[in-house]
Amino acid sequence: MTAKLLDGKTIAAQQRQTLREHVAARVAAGQSVPGLAVVLVGDDSASQIYVRNKRTACAEVGIESTAYHLTADTSTAELLALLDQLNADPRVHGILVQLPLPASIDTQRVIEHIAPEKDVDGFHPYNLGRLAQRRPLLRSCTPKGIMTLLAHTQVELDGLDAVIVGQSNIVGRPMALELLAARCTVTICHSRTQHLAEKVRAADVLVAAVGVAELIQGDWIKPNAIVIDVGMNRATHGGLCGDVQFASALQKASWITPVPGGVGPMTIVSLLENTLQAAEYAPS
Ligand code: GUN
Repeated sequence: MTAKLLDGKTIAAQQRQTLREHVAARVAAGQSVPGLAVVLVGDDSASQIYVRNKRTACAEVGIESTAYHLTADTSTAELLALLDQLNADPRVHGILVQLPLPASIDTQRVIEHIAPEKDVDGFHPYNLGRLAQRRPLLRSCTPKGIMTLLAHTQVELDGLDAVIVGQSNIVGRPMALELLAARCTVTICHSRTQHLAEKVRAADVLVAAVGVAELIQGDWIKPNAIVIDVGMNRATHGGLCGDVQFASALQKASWITPVPGGVGPMTIVSLLENTLQAAEYAPS
């Protein structure tokens, strides 16, 4: 059997169309244009590409994005001062600080300085805590996008065994909370996990978010599992590859995300949704 492709590129494009209509209706009703402040510190080339893609997507749906590009020698205090200004600005509904920040900046202090109601990345401990309590407000973008992909499979998640490979604050941990809220039995694997292949073999839903090229072999995949690959790695033969060996996993899974064109576009569209949500909640 060959798995069906979970085509994030197409699903995200449909969602952007819906968002464009919602934003237009909001503005036609006399409400403010949703505004996203995008903060980039330093010259990391991958971050520059991510930020550009996010701002292009904003423009496509009618969200006004404003870029703040700070030099790599910016201090934590200077960045916190910018966040104070953005937190207080009623035209700014969402604030995104692109990670990673230069090592000289206290990343955790920065994340905690963003007003939780403007935290469209869903990284603030308040928003993660709300998700842990099953009453989410702004949800982390990649896990939220993955839940949308899972909904597209129309597979009932209740009671399934979900295995997440990767324990990052950005993906692995909030993903576990999302799947737990969907009533899966959740296992999180990480670099100290013993017998990884065995754990993966038990997964009805597998989320690979570890950042190691093709770590997960196709013959580890449980027959008919749903495979979500968050990895975006440079392949040895050039081009991009995920954390899962795609060609062999395709023969085992029921659904699988391609890399690229699976999870990536869903992360960006979740950011747009969160920005509109933040604007809708904001006092007018
Ligand atoms: N760096 C890698 N992924 C992300 C993300 O989703 N948001 C932000 N702000 N930085 C990132």
